Formats: sequence, structure tokens, C-alpha cells
Amino acid sequence: MNVQGNVQGNADGKSRYHEVHARSLSDPAGFWAEAAKEIDWIEPPTRIFDPSQGTYGRWFAGGVVNTCYNALDRHVERGRADQVALIHDSPLTNSVTKLTYAELLNEVQALAAVMQDFGVAKGDRVILYMPMVPEAVVAMLACARIGAVHSVVFGGFAAKELATRIDDAQPKLILSASCGIEPGRIVHYKPLLDEAIRLAGSKPKACIVLQRPQLTCEMTPSRDYDWASLRRKALNDGKSAACVPVAATDPLYILYTSGTTGVPKGVVRDNGGHLVAVKWSMFNLYGVKPGEVWWCGSDIGWVVGHSYIVYGPLFHGATTIMYEGKPVGTPDAGAFWRVISEHKAVAFFTAPTAFRAIRKDDPEGKFIRQYDLSKFRTLFLAGERADPPTVEWAEQQLNVPVIDHWWQTETGWCIAGNPVGLGMLPVKHGSPTVPMPGYQVDVVDEAAKPVGANTMGSIVIKLPMPPGCLPTLWNQDERFKEAYLSEFPGYYKTSDAGYKDEDGYVFVMGRTDDIINVAGHRLSTGGMEEILASHPDVAECAVLGVKDAIKGEVPCGFLVLKAGVKRPPAEIEKEIIALVRDKLGPVAAFKLAITVGRLPKTRSGKILRGTIKKIADGDSWTMPATIEDPKALEEIGEALKGRV
Ligand code: COA
Ligand code: AMP
Repeated sequence: MNVQGNVQGNADGKSRYHEVHARSLSDPAGFWAEAAKEIDWIEPPTRIFDPSQGTYGRWFAGGVVNTCYNALDRHVERGRADQVALIHDSPLTNSVTKLTYAELLNEVQALAAVMQDFGVAKGDRVILYMPMVPEAVVAMLACARIGAVHSVVFGGFAAKELATRIDDAQPKLILSASCGIEPGRIVHYKPLLDEAIRLAGSKPKACIVLQRPQLTCEMTPSRDYDWASLRRKALNDGKSAACVPVAATDPLYILYTSGTTGVPKGVVRDNGGHLVAVKWSMFNLYGVKPGEVWWCGSDIGWVVGHSYIVYGPLFHGATTIMYEGKPVGTPDAGAFWRVISEHKAVAFFTAPTAFRAIRKDDPEGKFIRQYDLSKFRTLFLAGERADPPTVEWAEQQLNVPVIDHWWQTETGWCIAGNPVGLGMLPVKHGSPTVPMPGYQVDVVDEAAKPVGANTMGSIVIKLPMPPGCLPTLWNQDERFKEAYLSEFPGYYKTSDAGYKDEDGYVFVMGRTDDIINVAGHRLSTGGMEEILASHPDVAECAVLGVKDAIKGEVPCGFLVLKAGVKRPPAEIEKEIIALVRDKLGPVAAFKLAITVGRLPKTRSGKILRGTIKKIADGDSWTMPATIEDPKALEEIGEALKGRV
């Protein structure tokens, strides 16, 4: 089978996009059957799409496969054993580590065998609460190898968030580390892990803990096992786990993402659809060829990290860079250019917020000119709307195409983008360009009727969604249907609002729910409100996202204190900020809590969030006709003075 990449370039300079996209919609089975040839199947699928299975049908039904085999073994067997698979570059520990495909496979086989010794078998869940270290990639692939379902929890989440995920996924095993490293701060993981297990109703059988030299931790007897000792013993004993065949429709992982309440949604990714879609995207969307070096600067705790630090580049036989550092301050605003130049990356994927941070520190792009970026061809941005000024600055400074593309944890890969491998379409600033194959993206009104060009509405995706997208939520088919499929029958609701222009370009302007995007991180304001409301002095509260020059948005909490509370509001505000950090985690970047006498509401009691946001952002606003008391909005304006 061909693993050299499905090269469908645009030799004559014309994009093949329109023809390819049209075919994917008119003959989805034929289109994806062809893409599936890039994957090594143990048993080929009996039906490319089976509408009778699952909540809206399942892709590659009857297929039997192993994701780890497609990421590692097949490349080792076919000439890439000595090619570097993973480059771990960590300015935070001042180290660069490289693992070839053969070395990575060896590590994965050993850890997979260790996990089997703990009784982990096909379908069992394993939670990974890990910093950005190579062992995290090894652990993900080891789970995939033995058919276990991994669930990676981002290191910036606090113990309670981890506990919620433990209770939902009920893992047999948790893999963690002694610490994470943030600039100027060591993040002690072990106390968070211990607290999460204490809070959780479902207890894992054991924890495997990686001791990092920057901070070692005490092990809990009879529960915690030392990662390095288990690894050494397994390698010395020649232990190696074989690939376990799984159904294409079996889950590869669960990734929790913010929902409209404090309870996160367990997005399920299956093996077959994910393999086919993500592999397809590596050349056709990102324009990367097997053997080339690719860098995705996300974190493995996010979907972008799953698909494009770990799986995509490895399915494709490329070399992937894993970066433990920041765009600025590690040590300076030249960090990204140093990595691209040193490792000869051909393409790089990050979030616009990172570019805003770099631009602030290096507006003239002086650092950029200190590095040889001659191999670098394309910059990809996602995670939040790529604001045109940031895109223009990046284009001018880097002199390569800057491609915004839109996707969600739920879809696992790009919904709308500009397909470099098929031939780039003209870039329109502010738009992530056009729907990828398999996605019929419509903009609809409240009655689910498509609206005309350049008219704002809810952005929806016609069912079935393409391979790679979530088939359901973990153990929650009903919640999946209710949250995504019920409001617009026949469609998946993205909860993003926007419009399409006369050329079919998609413009994604904002969310229709309570989700805000903070430095490219997806957070639920509803979840934060639950935390604020749990403070004994708070009678009522509202959290909303307000504009931030670097992070795009940051949360701002408005508090109404209970009658009779005598303590100074500033003291309570400080406690609230600490409470959010403690319960949700530092990643929330919750640093603004403002006490007000009352919240502006409509006569029917709805908080006027949209208007409050406009006031906080300094945008123009009009008095809502339904307001209960117009003075309440003036009071908000007063309270905000000097605070945002
Ligand atoms: N573990 C523990 N804490 C973490 C963490 C982790 N993995 N990641 C972030 N945090 C902490 C930070 O240290 C910070 O803590 P502080 O309040 O003590 O300063 C807090 O969470 C907020 O983090 P963040 O919002 O990331 O802010 P920052 O100031 O550290 O960095 C950026 C700002 C813009 C540089 C950074 O967010 C960034 O690089 N974003 C790009 C993300 C990206 O590339 N995504 C890929 C596409 S989805
Ligand atoms: P996440 O699930 O964390 O990837 O966040 C998904 C959400 O981020 C989307 O629903 C959008 O609101 C937003 N988003 C991601 N990429 C883009 C983009 N390129 N343009 C606009 N919004 C984006």
C-alpha cells in the first residue's frame, strides 16, 4: 500500500479544490474509499459509510485497523526506521531530544507492554495528565497500540477539572508526571493528581508517574509506580506489546471540551475515520510531504495537539516537532524562528494569539531576520478568529502564505481552510476560506433555512459529517443529539455564527453559546459562573469575555454580593480570582472580578450580557428596549472605569 502520500498537487498553478470538494459531496463513499487507500487496514471496511449505525451513521464500518501501526510500524517496515519521527525542543529545560521511528516504536512497544501488565486491555480508558514531554506521545501511541482509549487532560487544568474527567472516563490507569514547567514557575502535578483522585468517585487501579529532574515528587505507596523503573525493566526483559486489532468504529480517544455547563463534553474520536481524514489533510491541506519536518506549536492537551503534534505527521511519515516553551520569553520573541530554522520545518501551525504576543515584543520583526527560514513555506493559524491586522503583519514579516483555518475539538480536523496541497485559493483576510471535503457548510436562520450570501446566521454542517468528526459524546448519545443535532434537523450545529460570501468563503465571527476563546483556549463562562456562585458572599454573578489585545478575549466576572455582606468588595474579588484558579485552573486567565450593585436585566429577568460586553469593550451600544432599569447599565460603566 502507498504510504508515500497522496500527491494531488497543482502543477499548472490551478487549484483542484472545487472539483475535489464537489466530488466529496456527490460521491462521499467513493471519495473516502479512495482516501482510505492511504491507510493499512487489517480488514478493509465492508461499508464506507453505514447510515444505520450510531447517532448519524458511522464511517468505515466493518473495517479493522490499528492506529499505532499506521503511525509507526509501517514506516519502520518500509524504510523510515532511521528517520527522526519526533523532535522534542524545550527551551524551558534547555534540551533537544530526537527519536527515530524505530526508537519511538521501541519505546511505545515497551510502555504498551507495561500497561498490559497493569491489566489494561482493549476499550479500557487511560487518563494522561502530562506536560509537553516525549513520554506523553509515547503514552498516547501505547494506548492506541493496545486498543486502550486515552484521554489527555491539559496540564493547566486544576484538580477538580481532572476529577470530573476521571469520574466520566473511569480510567483503569492514570499516567502523569512530577511537574510541568511554565516560565518562572514549576507546576507541581502530583498534589493536583492526588487531590483529583481524592475528589473522584471512581478510583484508578494505579498511576505511573514520570519523575522529572526539575522537581521530583513523593510516590503514594501501593498506587504510584515509577515510570523510568517500569520502562527500564520492560526494555531489559525484552517486553513488547503487539498491535491489537480494533474496529474502525472503536474509540481511539476521548477529549473533554468545554460545554455550556461546568460539566465538560467527552468528545469521542474513532480509529478509522480519524486515520483517513487526518492522513488526507497532511498533504492536501497542509502541503507537507512524507519525510519533511512539520511543527504544530499547540499542546497535546488540546485537539490540535492530538491531530497535528502526534497523529497526523506520524501517519504521514513526516517528522514532528513537540515544543515545550512559549512564543515570547523563552528566551525571547525569536523562539519560533529559532525552532523553525534549527529543525528546518517546512510548515508551522499555531494560534493568532501567539503572533499578537510576538508582534508586541518585536513589532519590526527584527528577530525574524536573524534566522534562516529558507525551508519554511507556510504558516497555519487556528483556534480563534485570525484577525486581519495580525495576518497582515505575519504575511509582511514572513513572506510566506498565512492560512487561517477553522475547526473544533468535535471535528478533529479542519472544517474550512485553504488547501495548499490541492492548490491554494486566493486568501481573503478575515475568512478561513472554504469548506474541506466532506463538509457541506451552510449558514441558516432560526428555522434552519439557509440564508443568502453575506447574511449572518448560525453555521451548521449537513449530516453526515465527514470521517474524523465525533460520532457521539462518551456514554452520552442523548446529550450529543440534544447539544448538536436537535436544533437544526439534518445538521450538526457548530455553535459558531458567521456568513458565507458570494464566492462561498466562510467567515466565522463568534460563538452563539457561552464559550469564550482565551489565548486560543476554549472556556465556558457558564462553568466559571458556577464557581463564582459557589462563593458564600455572592448573590448573583455573570461572566463574559472582554477584548484583550494579546489573548483576544479574557473573562470578566461581575458580582452582586449578598445583602448584609460587610467585608470590603476588593477582598472578596481577590478570593473569587483565587477560587477560579483553584477550581478551574490557571488556564482560565481569570483576573478580573468586579463588584456591582446589580446586574442589568430585561424585564423578563435575562441578564443583558451582550450590552455589558459592548460597554466593557468600549464598542458603541444602544439601550435595549426591554431593559428593566436603564440606570443599571450606567452603573456597569461606572464600575468598569479603570478596571479594563
Ligand atoms: N500547565 C500549567 N499551567 C499552564 C499551562 C500548563 N500546561 N499552560 C498555561 N498555563 C498557565 C500559564 O502559566 C498562565 O499562568 P499565570 O496566570 O500564572 O501567568 C495561565 O495558565 C494562562 O496561560 P496562557 O493563557 O497561555 O497565558 P500566557 O501568558 O502564559 O501565554 C500566550 C500567552 C499567548 C503566549 C500563550 O497562550 C500561547 O502561546 N498561546 C498559543 C496557543 C497555541 O499555539 N495553540 C495552538 C493552536 S490551538
Ligand atoms: P476548540 O474546540 O478548542 O478547537 O475551539 C473551537 C472554537 O474555536 C470554534 O468553535 C470557534 O469558535 C473557534 N475557532 C477555532 N478556529 C477558528 C478560526 N480559524 N476562526 C474563527 N474561530 C475559530
